[in-house]
Amino acid sequence: MVSSRAFLQLLSVALFTLSPVAAQGSDSSAAGSSSKGLKPGQIKNLVTFGDSFTDTLVVSNGGTQWPVYVADYAKVSLHPYARSGATCSNNLTYRPFPSVFESQLPTYYNDTASVAGKLDSAETLYTLWIGTNDVGSNALLTGSDKASLVDVTKCMVNWVQDLYSHGARNFLFQNMINLDKIPLYATDSWPNRYWTSQRNATEWSVFMRELTLSANALTSLQLQALAPTLRGAHVGIFDSHSLFVDMYNNPKKYLNGTAPLNVDGAVRTCVYQLNSDQSNCTEAEGTDRDSYLWFDELHPSEQADRIVAREVTQVAKGAKNQWTTWLS
Ligand SMILES: *[C@@H]1O[C@H](CO)[C@@H](O)[C@H](O)[C@H]1NC(C)=O
Ligand SMILES: *[C@@H]1O[C@H](CO)[C@@H](O)[C@H](O)[C@H]1NC(C)=O
Ligand SMILES: *[C@@H]1O[C@H](CO)[C@@H](O)[C@H](O)[C@H]1NC(C)=O
Ligand SMILES: *[C@@H]1O[C@H](CO)[C@@H](O)[C@H](O)[C@H]1NC(C)=O
Ligand SMILES: *[C@@H]1O[C@H](CO)[C@@H](O)[C@H](O)[C@H]1NC(C)=O
Repeated sequence: MVSSRAFLQLLSVALFTLSPVAAQGSDSSAAGSSSKGLKPGQIKNLVTFGDSFTDTLVVSNGGTQWPVYVADYAKVSLHPYARSGATCSNNLTYRPFPSVFESQLPTYYNDTASVAGKLDSAETLYTLWIGTNDVGSNALLTGSDKASLVDVTKCMVNWVQDLYSHGARNFLFQNMINLDKIPLYATDSWPNRYWTSQRNATEWSVFMRELTLSANALTSLQLQALAPTLRGAHVGIFDSHSLFVDMYNNPKKYLNGTAPLNVDGAVRTCVYQLNSDQSNCTEAEGTDRDSYLWFDELHPSEQADRIVAREVTQVAKGAKNQWTTWLS
């Protein structure tokens, strides 16, 4: 944990440097800089935490989720703990789903308590991709909680500290994507399965942009403060935000389906009547699906997930990756 005073100092720095995570391997100094990042061939296990973006039991992209692709591409064994609907902590942003701190981490600790369940810490990479539900409708965006973005980002970063104190050493922190462009929060949004009430979509999108950019700046600064204090740890930030902005701006580099490329609609679109459960749905089929950035109003498509998997695979293999900055 970062102390309150140190945190305030960081926050004042954040106000002057508010920008997406400084990625692209800036080699600023940190303790043990001689051995930043992972070694080729080191990682044999992938342990994932997060929400529906990463859940492999409840599939959110209509196909195969990114961790399953990584397990295949990188030849690592997958230990999936991410669960749909999750926030970092239900104490902060309550939703009736298994949150990271009250459910996913305790489940992992229980599973690895026995000698047989133990994972070799040097061979294991831990990932966290969280925040979409924490900042979303029915949470911070709509003022539904007492917690603030500061509380939520402290919780996210504490995931590293908590696992470290249980022996974990290799961490990849996946920051939040440009949710202001996902159909639910875009300026040209429509009533959908995630929100059928009246709202001002422009205001939601503007606020969501502030939330995600600020959250990413706050977690980056807190991780920079934390990483040098964790002896023997390797902490990397995976800049999902920049990756998804690039996919949004340059879809031709990433999307490869047989329909016209589409970054504002979704494979499965359901347009609801306002304040009603009546909807009209359309769904792209077959090879057309890979033309879309989003699967539905709140989830990346399978092709977007294959790209995430390709990039995370590079990290897991100990190679250099353009979206990843190693802090230690
Ligand atoms: C959540 O609240 C419970 C009950 O007060 C407490 O035991 C637990 O430590 C809290 N979790 C976090 C992450 O603060
Ligand atoms: C804890 O792990 C054991 C197996 O090691 C399992 O039988 C039990 O159901 C687990 N409990 C919880 C709460 O996950
Ligand atoms: C929605 O919010 C924007 C930005 O505050 C404002 O310009 C616009 O007039 C609002 N639209 C409606 C229909 O209230
Ligand atoms: C669905 O589309 C049909 C045909 O355009 C239209 O008549 C109907 O009102 C729509 N239903 C809803 C719930 O939007
Ligand atoms: C698009 O590329 C992915 C690899 O990133 C491949 O698995 C998929 O089959 C391709 N889709 C089409 C429609 O060719």
